[in-house]
Amino acid sequence: MSKKKPAQRILNNASRSFRIFTFGCQMNENDSEKISGMLKALGYVEEMDVNKAGLVILNTCSVRENADERVFGNIGAYKTVKKNNPDLILAVCGCMMQQPEIVNQIVTKYPQVDLVFGTHNFHQLPQMLNNYMVNGKRLVEVWEDSDTIIEDLPVDRKYPFKGFVTIMNGCNNFCTYCIVPYTRGREVSRQPERIFSEVAALVADGCVEVTLLGQNVNSYGNDLGDEVNFANLLRQLNTIEKLKRIRFMTSHPKDLTDAVIDAIAECDKVCNYIHLPIQSGSSRVLKAMNRKYTQDDILNRVDAIRKKIPGVAITTDLIVGFPGETEEDFLETLKVIELCHFDSAFTFLYSIRTGTPAATMADQIPDSVKHERINRCLEVLHRISHDINQTYQNQVVEVLVEETSRNNPERLTGRTRTGKVVNFPGEPGDIGKQLMVKITQAKTFSLDGEKIPQEDTDGAAHSNDDPIPANS
Ligand code: SAH
Ligand code: SF4
Ligand code: F3S
Repeated sequence: MSKKKPAQRILNNASRSFRIFTFGCQMNENDSEKISGMLKALGYVEEMDVNKAGLVILNTCSVRENADERVFGNIGAYKTVKKNNPDLILAVCGCMMQQPEIVNQIVTKYPQVDLVFGTHNFHQLPQMLNNYMVNGKRLVEVWEDSDTIIEDLPVDRKYPFKGFVTIMNGCNNFCTYCIVPYTRGREVSRQPERIFSEVAALVADGCVEVTLLGQNVNSYGNDLGDEVNFANLLRQLNTIEKLKRIRFMTSHPKDLTDAVIDAIAECDKVCNYIHLPIQSGSSRVLKAMNRKYTQDDILNRVDAIRKKIPGVAITTDLIVGFPGETEEDFLETLKVIELCHFDSAFTFLYSIRTGTPAATMADQIPDSVKHERINRCLEVLHRISHDINQTYQNQVVEVLVEETSRNNPERLTGRTRTGKVVNFPGEPGDIGKQLMVKITQAKTFSLDGEKIPQEDTDGAAHSNDDPIPANS
């Protein structure tokens, strides 16, 4: 079989169909929504079956080694898919493509890949597709960095009632373990007016919840002059009348100022929930990670959050087994978890990322130790989650209903303002609504409940606090 594509391939209707697979974080999900938006604007339709689709896009993540491995496994499988579906165009984009060694590997070992583009130039996909149609030759186009944000791309959002809004691209922090500054470039903030009008337009379309995205939202606006900062952005968005919930991620503890905490506390639409990745509780490890805060700083910030934001839920990210992490360092992390009383945490085994400073640090920790530590960590975290969730028992909470439950079509699932997953019996017609739900059973990872008669849901939607007992 010839590997060559026939020149002058004309797009017929059958090939104007696509499927996107998204790996990684919400930033990638939001990029995929834009890619999907562009394709739909070109007349493409979604096709779930990759054996029938005209175009498959893998939007990749590189944050840990197993993320890379998953993607390579997926690309590998397309050798067979392409035998069944020889006209398929396979595109690979996202964070992995920002690393020249990975692109090299794809170019030399994976002939089934037709298009390669990166995080800074995904808006070029329509042009690339066009060129590919004309020339039938593999195209690889990756921008190293970009100091502008492409505005006004169509966004094909997954949910009509909630949406992601990227407020800034990139990261300037260079934590020593992390690949993201290399894959996403330097921080570039969007103009506040642009963000405001995107959110206002979303709300006019019926959206009630927005999640503002950035690698470190607390440094939003540092590149835009004195008046532009995250606290002010929250206050501005809080004036959008029909918007009910504002969420954001991620907050870096080093930049979480009192002004931001005050804004969260004072803006009724900003949910009483903060994802605050601490990574470690040991000041020594934090220094080696280049996180620019100490254990005391963490405790001080968490204290300030709890004092000012009633009923707040705090979640975190933790890395265990960073190079040089001793048993004493790890015990400091466990201590901080107890003191901070996190609602939940994403825990990760440290993963070597080639090209980052930590990759070549001495004293890499053996896998067995990493596993042993993560299990101890999870034990503490699960106990705390369970205890916090118990305080929701018999309470009435406001839930934004997101979808029918995956394993029971007669049940719905949604989230409280504090980010807790609540499952309860209900009709699909309730999806997208904010309902008052009484918690009947609190579990470690979710809450079960039942709808109560809905009286003043609009008023409730404006309350910043889940009615949680004072002891939480
Ligand atoms: N910008 C966010 C994090 C983005 S990456 C922040 O600073 O909070 C998401 C999470 O992946 C990080 O918080 C960290 O816990 C984890 N992570 C990043 N690089 C990692 C690595 N090399 N090994 C293990 N976990 C890593
Ligand atoms: Fe990575 Fe640190 Fe930037 Fe987060 S702040 S994306 S962990 S470098
Ligand atoms: Fe992964 Fe890139 Fe996000 S590396 S975590 S998809 S910014």
